[in-house]
Amino acid sequence: MKFAPSIRDARQRAILSQEELAQAIGVTPRAVWLAEQGAGTLKTLISILDHLRIPVAGLPPASSLGARVQAARRRKGWSLQKLSERSSLSIPTIRGLEQGKGRIASLEAAIAALAPTARVRKPATVRREAPRSMGGSSVQRLVHADCIEFMQGMESASVDLVVTSPPYNAGKEYEADLSVEEYVSFAERWVSCIPRILAPSGALWLNVGHIKVSETENVPLSYLYYPLLRRYGLHMLQEVVWHFEGGMSYKTRFSHRTERWMWLVKDPKKYVFHLDDVRDHTLNIGSDNRNNPAGKNPTDYWHFPRVVGGRGASREKTAHPCQFPVAMIERIIRACSNPRDVVLDPFGGSGTTAVAAYQNGRGFISVETNQRYHEIAKARLERLHKENGAEPPPDLERLAS
Ligand SMILES: C[S@@+](CC[C@H](N)C(=O)[O-])C[C@H]1O[C@@H](n2cnc3c(N)ncnc32)[C@H](O)[C@@H]1O
Repeated sequence: MKFAPSIRDARQRAILSQEELAQAIGVTPRAVWLAEQGAGTLKTLISILDHLRIPVAGLPPASSLGARVQAARRRKGWSLQKLSERSSLSIPTIRGLEQGKGRIASLEAAIAALAPTARVRKPATVRREAPRSMGGSSVQRLVHADCIEFMQGMESASVDLVVTSPPYNAGKEYEADLSVEEYVSFAERWVSCIPRILAPSGALWLNVGHIKVSETENVPLSYLYYPLLRRYGLHMLQEVVWHFEGGMSYKTRFSHRTERWMWLVKDPKKYVFHLDDVRDHTLNIGSDNRNNPAGKNPTDYWHFPRVVGGRGASREKTAHPCQFPVAMIERIIRACSNPRDVVLDPFGGSGTTAVAAYQNGRGFISVETNQRYHEIAKARLERLHKENGAEPPPDLERLAS
């Protein structure tokens, strides 16, 4: 019996990247990768089987996999010694397995000895909840345009949530090389469009890095944005730190491994926040009865692996150099908007915000000025519609111009 191919298959059916699955069950992406190679620990395997709902040898989901090994052994009337002889595993290893501990390879050996014909049943089709946007919001727009011009033409109060990451002036292929004054002027032009198009209970989630303001000074972009956002009437609710691994290593200062989210609202007395929809379920609830059984608050420090290419590339990676991880945007969208709300990303890039909105039953408007990135976003959304057995909505075609 081999678990690895079934795990990979079920994960892909669930349209989850290794990073997303890892995030969902509270392990590292490497642990998921290892499990998909048939290596790694039983603990990870059990979490994956439970999360993806893969039946094992005809049994329901696998939280008590270890106890089942024990039950199968006893049903056969085998002692630990006998299973050890048949499986070439040591008795302590089998004891560990029966308590849900040990390695996936040992489990496979025990099952092969106990039930030589056992198979992992083909996983039930596990899909994310059918996107409510299919029958919900009809606003599904990928727009090829300059966002400032586009937003100036939008209706007032037509957007419930803005999630975006503007150019940082950090030398990326899509960035013009601006002086700090020019950058602030660009920032002001797009920021000034937001309050008018936001609904009264609307919010802006703005992801920023840092900017070189002189030969010697590097400044968090939030320092430049905050006075502008305040001037245009938005209220800063919170800063959230996004932590990730990987990236350039510096020799003369600490390497950057974080970016910031600025969470701003139009009305601090009336904004959308669904904490229960984004609680973190990885907490060991049984260990402490003071813990909320619905899961813990994800706090203002988030770890989401960056979307990377090359070896070990994320499944969601496109040719865009700076993609958001979908799982991170899904957290923001679920927490800070309602089903069928409209989510805008003025700097839409590869369309990640649109993907996250679509998958969570929200409408989307994603604006991108670069033709190549616009095409990437279009292809992504079309693929998603197809995977969900739906025709691309007509306005994806009509408005994608
Ligand atoms: C940081 S990237 C956004 C990446 C995006 N979050 C994703 O997940 O793919 C910023 C994007 O803004 C686009 N952009 C820059 N200026 C723009 C403008 N005036 N209007 C619309 N898009 C613009 C760039 O081409 C780039 O794709």
